[in-house]
Amino acid sequence: MRPTSTSLLAYCRPGFESECAQELASAGERLGVIGFARTTRGSGFVEYVLPDSSSQQAFSAGVQLANLTFARQLLRVIERIDDLPAKDRLGLLMPVVRSTARRFVDAWIESPDSDAARELAGLCRSLNNALVAAMKRESLIDAASQWRLHVCLIDAQTAFVCETEIAHAAPWPGGIPRLRFPAAAPSRSTLKLEEAFLTLLDEDERSRWLQAGMCGVDLGAAPGGWTWQLVRRAMRVIAVDNGPMNQGLLDSGLVTHLREDGFFYRPAHPVDWLVCDMVEQPRRVAELIGEWLIGGHCRFAVFNLKLPMKQRFKEVELCRQRMHEAAQAAGKRLDWRARQLYHDREEITVFARLR
Ligand SMILES: C[S@@+](CC[C@H](N)C(=O)[O-])C[C@H]1O[C@@H](n2cnc3c(N)ncnc32)[C@H](O)[C@@H]1O
Repeated sequence: MRPTSTSLLAYCRPGFESECAQELASAGERLGVIGFARTTRGSGFVEYVLPDSSSQQAFSAGVQLANLTFARQLLRVIERIDDLPAKDRLGLLMPVVRSTARRFVDAWIESPDSDAARELAGLCRSLNNALVAAMKRESLIDAASQWRLHVCLIDAQTAFVCETEIAHAAPWPGGIPRLRFPAAAPSRSTLKLEEAFLTLLDEDERSRWLQAGMCGVDLGAAPGGWTWQLVRRAMRVIAVDNGPMNQGLLDSGLVTHLREDGFFYRPAHPVDWLVCDMVEQPRRVAELIGEWLIGGHCRFAVFNLKLPMKQRFKEVELCRQRMHEAAQAAGKRLDWRARQLYHDREEITVFARLR
């Protein structure tokens, strides 16, 4: 038996399937690989169908999760199974696993991030244990493998059996990092910046670029969830917002609160980080961040783009394009990494710097 599917599977935030599909189509077009998306609004996933297995391979090789904004995980589908029997799901799953002729570092059974699929959490757990045990019995688990097996359960009978190269995949089931809300943080928004550092920077970048003693500016800082993430790393922060900042942060001695307009404020000396969570038009925020980077006011930026409009994918593309052009005109190259984080709602978070 050989793998039969020619699809890719992407997980996304429920309600953003269309943006995720548009992004996959646009990435495929750039490679000259044309497919079509099967989506249901609210399902939390997109199946992107390619015409044959060579275009599936070309797409997997050319499109990486790190370059996608609306996908949380990108998997290559081996086979879709529509009739998993309640009494013997492994009986149908194992032949598909064997058909790959691969050994896997691990196997994850997961479900999309939708209300309907969340009911499957218990089934995912028990089936996951049974699947890994069965794979171990047949020596299909290998700690040195570069591949992970994913089974995405859509409902109790329907599964996508998929694989992914771990070097390019999100390292969390469902592509969702489970972060605990720190009790001392002044707002839940703090999790956005924590997730951004975790998702958009690698370990080496985090240790080099987020160091004690560095300085940051937080535009739209109140009550201080993002500032808290910098202060927790012993960084000094200039927090710009007309609203009140959390007293604990002010007492830390590391925070200077300025009641100024974030669009006009510029620091007297260059800082390491600019973070910005102001609720404003995305293109206005993107232009502002571009000015800071090109003007040398900061080395790194993390900013949130709010997307209340209909054409959300287009708006993100426009912001990215404008920032690229501005960087190019200044003789620089833009490093732009964007993701709709798990803790983002109708918005995305971007890391940017110039090279
Ligand atoms: C989503 S909240 C920020 C939450 C913050 N990141 C946190 O983690 O606690 C947006 C903030 O942006 C501020 N804001 C909006 N426009 C601004 C402007 N032009 N200048 C300064 N602050 C602004 C608002 O006062 C508000 O406190």
